[in-house]
Amino acid sequence: MMLAVVLVTIVGPAAAKVYSQCQLATLLRNNGITSNINDWVCLIISESSGNTTAKGGPNSNGSYDYGLFQVNSRYWCGTSGPGGDCNVACSKLLDENVADDIACAKKIYARHGFSAWYGWKNKCKNPPAVTPC
Ligand SMILES: *[C@@H]1O[C@H](CO)[C@@H](O)[C@H](O)[C@H]1NC(C)=O
Ligand SMILES: *[C@@H]1O[C@H](CO)[C@@H](O)[C@H](O)[C@H]1NC(C)=O
Repeated sequence: MMLAVVLVTIVGPAAAKVYSQCQLATLLRNNGITSNINDWVCLIISESSGNTTAKGGPNSNGSYDYGLFQVNSRYWCGTSGPGGDCNVACSKLLDENVADDIACAKKIYARHGFSAWYGWKNKCKNPPAVTPC
């Protein structure tokens, strides 16, 4: 008797994944961010409320902000395919795979520190506003 195995790929509208502060702390650690976890978690909560599909804007200069870290399309990601200094499509920063979001955030941080994010400057600087777990 033959068994037919049918693989079904379910493609639906991207569901918003919303992370708690504790889950964010774990997610960051698993992606190689090992210091300043409270600042990072506070930054994400301030910018996107932990919502992977958060899209902000349009900003006054016509740019948009994408994903957990609200990465700005003016410099960092491409609005029509991979681009920007992170060489990633902005749309990819809205899906549930957050590895590319974190890689891009590391790049932004390496260049500008936490001050690159208004959410951090306004709500997390001195002292960080959250204790994740
Ligand atoms: C997450 O963000 C998306 C896009 O802005 C929004 O539609 C959704 O309601 C948000 N989810 C939660 C739980 O806030
Ligand atoms: C556009 O506006 C965003 C959000 O205010 C800002 O992060 C970005 O630096 C601005 N870009 C330019 C070129 O002014």
